[in-house]
Amino acid sequence: MSRRVLAVLGSAVLALSMAACSGDGAGSGGNGGDKPADLTIGVSMPTQTSERWIADGNAVKEKLGAKGYKVDLQYAGDDIPTQSQQVDQMITRGADVLIIAAIDGTALSGQLQAAADAKIPVIAYDRLIRDSPNVDFYVSFDNYKVGVAQASALLVGLGVQNKDGSKGTATGPFNIELFAGSLDDNNAHFFFNGAMDTLKPFIDDGTLKVKSGQTKIEQVAILRWQQEGAQKRMEDLLTSSYNDRSKVDGVLSPYDGLSRGILTALQNAGYGGANKMPVVTGQDAEIASVKLINDGVQNSTIFKDTRLLADQAVVAAEAFLQDKTPEANDTSTYNNGVKVVPSHLLPVQTVFKDEIKPILIDSGYYTAEEVAAGQAKS
Ligand code: BGC
Repeated sequence: MSRRVLAVLGSAVLALSMAACSGDGAGSGGNGGDKPADLTIGVSMPTQTSERWIADGNAVKEKLGAKGYKVDLQYAGDDIPTQSQQVDQMITRGADVLIIAAIDGTALSGQLQAAADAKIPVIAYDRLIRDSPNVDFYVSFDNYKVGVAQASALLVGLGVQNKDGSKGTATGPFNIELFAGSLDDNNAHFFFNGAMDTLKPFIDDGTLKVKSGQTKIEQVAILRWQQEGAQKRMEDLLTSSYNDRSKVDGVLSPYDGLSRGILTALQNAGYGGANKMPVVTGQDAEIASVKLINDGVQNSTIFKDTRLLADQAVVAAEAFLQDKTPEANDTSTYNNGVKVVPSHLLPVQTVFKDEIKPILIDSGYYTAEEVAAGQAKS
């Protein structure tokens, strides 16, 4: 029986069964005895325009399905009202747990209150949901370290630093530009902070120069992480700050989709081939970008193994369904504005061309053929 139905019944039997449960609030609705086939997990994903979220959705669905649970998986087309409506529907249809990757981390408080009222535990998936006490658990990667890794990859690409962190031979000065993700995504801030903490000493000592002068996240953020938005901003930067024959040497990009937009703008302006392409970073190891790295066009990406993230989401969901508390490995970093949300954070890996085989192909994430084609089969 679903948590919602249980909550609505409000019978003496319910009161007794609730009293026997371990905790209070969400997660203590008493599904412990239910068979997986009687339980539904609502999975709300932001968009299908980025392949990473398709991989996440598929992996979570498959893993829950393999354990016999019913899965209600919805994509919101990067539209905030659509996501709110989909989550509302999951609640009315009787979801027993919700796994949500929010489009706007601050826009779901109403839905989360309804979930809490119906005793449905909520797991924030990869993106923290903010300004609500009703987020029960967070599964993600170490997002600050993603930013550190992106900035380090930029330094390595420029030759300022070696892969092992030691000092490189290049001294600059290098012209760089900075990009950040969508301001309404909590992760965008973690990525940017990690990156800026790493780049700051090199900006301060003159090794790196942000020629446009745009160094604040509000100046460099790209709404909804859109490729076209990044392409447009890069075009504008080239026109406004590089019309004096100076060259861009590096671009900090926090996501492969943005990197492809940036690279397109650079290519259209004559970079590439004999005119050295600037060092452009990335994130997510999207197949089109892995091919670009393999072809020497994009410098690097940060690989976040969505299979492992899906595993953690499933482990957390099962814990809640069994009236247990999922195991956190971080209970201090992710304050959502109301409380610190217990989190399980996974490590990340930097992929330059040399790491494509050992990290992506040998682990079965992609085949060599997929990398060569720049397209994944499924
Ligand atoms: C995710 C990144 C992703 C970005 C754009 C972030 O919240 O953590 O992996 O690149 O959203 O989809």
